[in-house]
Amino acid sequence: MVNTLSQSAPKEPKQGIKAPSKETVLTPRFYTTDFEKAASLDLSAQDTELQAMLAEMRADYNRHHFVRDEAFAQSWEHIEAEARQSFIEYLERSCISEFSGFLLFKELSRKLKNRNPLLSEMFNLMARDEARHAGFLNKAMGDFKLSLDLADITKRRTYTFFPIEWVIYTVYLSEKIGYWRYIIIYRHLQKHPENQFYPIFRYFESWCQDENRHGDIFKALLRSQPQLWKTWKSRLWSRFFLLSVFATHTLTVHERAGFYHSLGLDAREFDRQVVCETNETAGRAFPVMLNTEHPKFFSRLHRCSDYNLKLVEIDRSSQPKFVKLIRKIPFVTAIVWNLLLLYLIKPIDTEALRGQVC
Ligand SMILES: [Fe+2]
Ligand SMILES: [Fe+2]
Repeated sequence: MVNTLSQSAPKEPKQGIKAPSKETVLTPRFYTTDFEKAASLDLSAQDTELQAMLAEMRADYNRHHFVRDEAFAQSWEHIEAEARQSFIEYLERSCISEFSGFLLFKELSRKLKNRNPLLSEMFNLMARDEARHAGFLNKAMGDFKLSLDLADITKRRTYTFFPIEWVIYTVYLSEKIGYWRYIIIYRHLQKHPENQFYPIFRYFESWCQDENRHGDIFKALLRSQPQLWKTWKSRLWSRFFLLSVFATHTLTVHERAGFYHSLGLDAREFDRQVVCETNETAGRAFPVMLNTEHPKFFSRLHRCSDYNLKLVEIDRSSQPKFVKLIRKIPFVTAIVWNLLLLYLIKPIDTEALRGQVC
């Protein structure tokens, strides 16, 4: 069940502080969880893996990575109009998403300090990385004369309650999909340096290794809990979270096709690549992965994305609220229907595949 905690009233943004974009179902969320239950997790089945991950996190390979070099010291006024707008939106969304990770990890670290020192330190080190990522993105927004008041956002955002099991599934997926997003953009720009319109993309290679490590920690947490991968319920939940994360990605990427175009990337192809790679990766942790090769898989996802673009169009119109609401109903129904059909596509049993390899 999802409960949301209260938020205080919005206030006028200060000068140079960007008013956060309107929250929608696709906006990165802020989470809270059952800290008692998190503290009592028995991690013994993955103790060796977690100790190895802790040593890697302590080594802090990216200690000196997030330092702005001279390439940033110039004016960015030449990035104009739609390209500027879509890039700022990309930076904002990424910053909020990194910051959301920071808040959750920091709170977990604080609450677990006396109960589970290993996990507490691990979360503290992950919070360290996410704070660097969010800070670096916020500085980039500063180059466009805007930044986010992260302290104010912390107070005003809605916090969604997720049981710790859901946190493990969703954070694992968001770390791994984050890894693939960053590395695919990085590799593309290595081949097409003419599209590198801002220096932040050069930082993505080492940056995404942080996300990969965070994902591996969550994989160890997931595999330490047999109820998260050994039961029929866990198969249903895995399908649900895989589809939710992929659908959110597809809809968001197509909403921001202009940004990917400015990088010389085709939004549809980028989305397909990120979804397929993340699905393959998730197959190493989850008991199932989705059948992305199914002929209806991407066509249905794209149909959802087309309907979502209609919803965006309706939202932007100047019609009265209730007219907008009525016009939206058929598109929302169509999205839900297509997602249901996608959910029903038979998944691939990764536990059985692991059995064959052994
Ligand atoms: Fe991050
Ligand atoms: Fe991360």
